Amino acid sequence: MRVHVADHPLITHKLTVLRDERTPSPVFRQLTEELLTLLAYEATRNVRVEEIEIQTPVTTTTGVRISEPRPLVVPILRAGLGMLDGMVKLLPTAEIGFLGMARDEETLQPYTYAERLPEDLSDRQCFVLDPMLATGGSLGAAIDFLFARGAQDVTAICILAAPEGVAKIQEQVGDRDVTLVLGALDEGLNEKGYIVPGLGDAGDRLYGTV
Ligand code: URA
Repeated sequence: MRVHVADHPLITHKLTVLRDERTPSPVFRQLTEELLTLLAYEATRNVRVEEIEIQTPVTTTTGVRISEPRPLVVPILRAGLGMLDGMVKLLPTAEIGFLGMARDEETLQPYTYAERLPEDLSDRQCFVLDPMLATGGSLGAAIDFLFARGAQDVTAICILAAPEGVAKIQEQVGDRDVTLVLGALDEGLNEKGYIVPGLGDAGDRLYGTV
């Protein structure tokens, strides 16, 4: 598994405003979108392309276009939805699938409560959007789900991650082709499972406490 932690002053600046508890939802949403566009640039570094020949006004030349089948972007509901617009701004031809993951409060295991994805993901490059990689339960389940449908490789984009979550995903994916692209790697988790220093509950801060 490859782990890429973003290292760019613009990303750190936007993350700092996002972490600040005084930042209201409209600004939080706007910054999440902007951050995603910056992280998407890193995350798409290995997007598959093919060579094509085109005619400029001056001559013919070769360039590239994104290969078929088109990449699939999968936000994990609910908070991953806040990352979608920023991602597709950079990858407008991607297809979009949806996964709703929650945790069974008795078994503490993640389960899928909603799913709208192509049945066959053979040869697909998949990009999963999940803002907070905390324990890694739901992201790990989402990655398993995509490989079980035949995905070729999976890149997960997270705004923040805890080392515990990264270790869990690493152990779970083994030698499958997975990349994590992180806005920052934080210190750890507190006793309630929140990332520290973190930014609180990403879904609540995006959408209010509903
Ligand atoms: N989910 C969140 O929204 N925030 C955390 O800190 C951890 C998980």
